[in-house]
Amino acid sequence: MEREITFEEHTRELEPELARLLVTIADMTVEIRNEFPHRLMGVSGTNKYGEVVSELDAWVNDYICKKLAATGLVRKIYSEELVQPLLVREDAPFVVAMDPLDGSSNIVTNNPFGTIMGIYRKDLPVTGENLAASLYKLYGPITTLVYDAGKGVHEFVKHRKGAAKYCLLHEKMKIPEEGGVFGLGGEPLEWTPEFLRFAKDLVKVHKLKLRYCGAFVGDFSQILHKGGFFSYPSSVKNPKGKLRLFYEAQPMAKIFEDAGGATWSGSESLLKTKCDDVNVRTPLYFGNKKIIELLKGVKTVAHKEGE
Ligand code: F6P
Ligand code: MN
Repeated sequence: MEREITFEEHTRELEPELARLLVTIADMTVEIRNEFPHRLMGVSGTNKYGEVVSELDAWVNDYICKKLAATGLVRKIYSEELVQPLLVREDAPFVVAMDPLDGSSNIVTNNPFGTIMGIYRKDLPVTGENLAASLYKLYGPITTLVYDAGKGVHEFVKHRKGAAKYCLLHEKMKIPEEGGVFGLGGEPLEWTPEFLRFAKDLVKVHKLKLRYCGAFVGDFSQILHKGGFFSYPSSVKNPKGKLRLFYEAQPMAKIFEDAGGATWSGSESLLKTKCDDVNVRTPLYFGNKKIIELLKGVKTVAHKEGE
């Protein structure tokens, strides 16, 4: 039997401080997952976006913040669930931005959800080109972790063949050349007519199959493995879409572009998007390069009625 390569071994080739931070993040998984069955229903309030924060969202956010702080490696933490960033330790090397529990409306239905994190050396706001590393965890029927620290995109699975560790599943991932599936969030009749037509062409011309799971991490994982297209687009009600540039789009854009895909904000790559507001939302479009090239000619940005 071939020996498994663990996450800890795989990250050893990185700068030691970054490797230690990544391993600490990976090691949080067991306690996080163990907590899920105990916090399925509770609501803890609303966040800075006015969205419902489940008890699990709040617990995971607090847990990750405490563990990150204890490493001594994190200067500042930006989180979708924190009103103000947490200043942890002024002389520490890394700044973390995260969506601690992405897709939390899937908790009650027992569909997938996950954690998204971006690790920077500079303070935010900076573009995604400044990411030292990105990762996401997908808490599905199995737990996977995908990371990218500038040396390729690698996927790990938790607890394989009895090893109580993340073990390597795919090294240097590349999305398939020809797209396979697509997922679109939001309300189709609120999109621009041009984007609606583009969406229909995904079926008619590109022969993609519809797969939408309602958690960005889950939808992202589908196109990372199968190729295709995912978007939570601009709409008349929400011209900037729903997802957040710094907590969600930017870290995932690094992974996706490094795996050979392309991203788009409506005007540029999501890795190049500049914005001074760390809480800003952005329309987002992830896909095979060919599909994103076609999208560039499409009017995707909707406007509020009367504006
Ligand atoms: O973080 C926002 C989020 O939960 C994403 O994970 C997901 O893509 C989206 O919202 C789902 O939104 P909707 O409920 O509108 O389909
Ligand atoms: Mn989210």
